[in-house]
Amino acid sequence: MSAQEPQRHESARPQAVVSGGGTGIGLASASRLARDGFDLVIIGRREGVLQEAAAQIVRETPAATVRTIVADLQDPADVERAAGEIEGPVDVLLNNAGGNVLDRGEGVAGLAAHFEANFRLNVLTAVLLTETLLPRITRPGGRIISITSIAALRGANGYGAAKAAIHGWMMGLAEQIAGDGVTVNAVAPGYVPDTGFWEGRRTPEIRASRLVGVLMNRPGTPDEVAGAVSYLAGPEAGWTTGQILQVNGGALFGRG
Ligand SMILES: NC(=O)c1ccc[n+]([C@@H]2O[C@H](COP(=O)([O-])OP(=O)(O)OC[C@H]3O[C@@H](n4cnc5c(N)ncnc54)[C@H](OP(=O)(O)O)[C@@H]3O)[C@@H](O)[C@H]2O)c1
Repeated sequence: MSAQEPQRHESARPQAVVSGGGTGIGLASASRLARDGFDLVIIGRREGVLQEAAAQIVRETPAATVRTIVADLQDPADVERAAGEIEGPVDVLLNNAGGNVLDRGEGVAGLAAHFEANFRLNVLTAVLLTETLLPRITRPGGRIISITSIAALRGANGYGAAKAAIHGWMMGLAEQIAGDGVTVNAVAPGYVPDTGFWEGRRTPEIRASRLVGVLMNRPGTPDEVAGAVSYLAGPEAGWTTGQILQVNGGALFGRG
């Protein structure tokens, strides 16, 4: 599918590309970046979801232009097509698309499939889009931000391992392009239930188990993660690179 008509006319605002910008943390971040002065490209697999999100962002920030691109960012061909549909320089790239593939089949084959699925959904979506857009990241001043997870530090499954892999890749990339004046960072959220990530898993038992050790004794919100993204995307974070910003209510040291 092709890029949709922008919700508003072209403008000279800087451009942010947000993968998974149609829902949850991605939508909150896209909305926040629009308020911060960015035009947006939001990417996801569901066209209707992206269209609704674009309309919401423009309602909130009428000055913003929002383009939508339907693509599965695990698929190299889709990534190449999506990159071709993005016009102009990319000032901010937010790698937010991802999720936790819980399915774990029988035996070693099931284990392998579980790890591969999580790796594709979290690592490939970030790495393929970033490396494809890399020549078009604004130099100096560009920002590359990836949403990882507290699970990267303590996740005994494919999801945690995949998010941890992004940390290593992100730090290497930061070293590679710091000389061009581009920063590369991660935001690692804790428990943020008001997202597609927790669809079908919002039970009192799961909520209680996720809040064990959260010092603030409450879940986080997509807007609170978006605030961290906004900081790393903004002018005051120009000397912050190769970092993991933990946004988890103080869960890191106490999670049970
Ligand atoms: N919520 C939490 O508690 C939490 C905690 C730590 C980290 N995170 C991370 O935060 C990020 C955002 O998740 P969320 O919590 O906001 O859940 P979400 O609402 O499910 O958001 C994930 C977004 O990514 C898109 N997406 C998924 N796979 C994609 C693919 N292959 N290609 C393109 N787009 C894809 C989804 O849209 P489509 O399905 O339409 O493609 C969706 O809009 C994820 O990386 C997640 O791992 C979440």
